[in-house]
Amino acid sequence: MHKTGLLFYNRVMTSENKSILLIITGGIAAYKSLELIRLLRKDGAQIRSILTAGGAQFVTPLSVSALCEHPAYTDLWSLKDESEMGHIRLVREADLIVVAPASADFMAKMAHGLADDLASTCLLAADKPILIAPAMNHRMWAHPATQNNVATLRARGVQVIGPDAGAMACGEYGPGRMSEPEVIFNHIHSFFFNTDQLHGLKALVTAGPTFEPIDPVRFIGNRSSGKQGIAIAQALHDSGADVTLVLGPADEPVPAHLRVIKVHTAQEMLAACESALPADIAICAAAVSDWRPAEFQEHKMKKRSDQSPPAIALSENPDILKTLSHHKNRPRLVVGFAAETHNLLDHARQKLKTKGCDWIVANNVSENVFGADENHAFLITSQTTLEWPRAPKAQIARRLVQQITEFFHDRLESHKAAE
Ligand SMILES: Cc1cc2nc3c(=O)[nH]c(=O)nc-3n(C[C@H](O)[C@H](O)[C@H](O)COP(=O)(O)O)c2cc1C
Repeated sequence: MHKTGLLFYNRVMTSENKSILLIITGGIAAYKSLELIRLLRKDGAQIRSILTAGGAQFVTPLSVSALCEHPAYTDLWSLKDESEMGHIRLVREADLIVVAPASADFMAKMAHGLADDLASTCLLAADKPILIAPAMNHRMWAHPATQNNVATLRARGVQVIGPDAGAMACGEYGPGRMSEPEVIFNHIHSFFFNTDQLHGLKALVTAGPTFEPIDPVRFIGNRSSGKQGIAIAQALHDSGADVTLVLGPADEPVPAHLRVIKVHTAQEMLAACESALPADIAICAAAVSDWRPAEFQEHKMKKRSDQSPPAIALSENPDILKTLSHHKNRPRLVVGFAAETHNLLDHARQKLKTKGCDWIVANNVSENVFGADENHAFLITSQTTLEWPRAPKAQIARRLVQQITEFFHDRLESHKAAE
């Protein structure tokens, strides 16, 4: 980040020339794998796919083939494919094997070395790294048989992504949801490119809205979904940082491996952030309410037809970004977010000065950003403005983490030079 002026987005490594064998097994989450294929193809990866008989009940070989731009494989007994030992070739050509979703049944087969269909036969013949993204009902996940199978697979070096906790297709709630396609994509990406560059660094990330209570049923809140902040926490984790995510009341699923402190109000958020210090990096992506009701009404305020609507007196909330920027335990890199509806860059540059942080990520929230899966952002420092065109939030997160990596790399290099 030494140049000045408006730069276009920085180059990020893509999965071009990487070959992935994707196995889709029989779970509802199979539909999410179509999005995973789309993300990987957009990133330049070559994908060969296998659908188990169960997988083909949930997504069609035609959809998978069309998205992969290559026919999906389904049959171990295919005269055409197996005349050339297709299952061995599929494994041989892959740089990485991904099973998403990984059903309870399929993990059991993997753990016990069964090989009674094309997918399980490939895996038994595989000498390539394997990533699995389990997806199932929370009781199937918690069952000792499944837990033993996962432990066996982990012990053999299989990387397990998720599952997340959250609402399930069956109407129940708990751990078992497949991780979101962006999260799996990030894992795949960091499998190829990540060299744990932020290993040894502690990062604090805030995300989501804050809810400031008026009375037991009402609050002042905002539309932040937490998606961008969660994606940043994930991307930092993927790069080897030790991450604490301080999360306001957001519905967005959070990868189970992230350390999360859940809060409601700005005051709670500040306290949680301070408890996570010292840290090397602080990313304040949460949309913190500037004000809170000066008084909390213990009982629900009643509407009275003989009275005009009540005036709600407001108090100022703590400024978390400013507090962290001037803290005695100030992280070496403090990054704020500016959500603006107009004069985006001017407001963001002003914010950089008044808060005392190092960088601002600015996004125009009138561009359908809240709750969306994509973002269009600018990274503003005292010297540069870098534009990141509209892209999945996970990709924006990776771009930010790449800049963070360069920042710490540059510091390390200048320390070395000074020695
Ligand atoms: C509607 C429906 C949804 C299912 N969802 C899941 C699921 O999310 N995870 C899972 O492990 N099994 C799920 N199953 C059961 C599997 O599809 C079943 O165990 C199947 O044998 C898996 O085959 P495979 O692992 O070879 O693909 C579901 C079954 C049905 C009928």
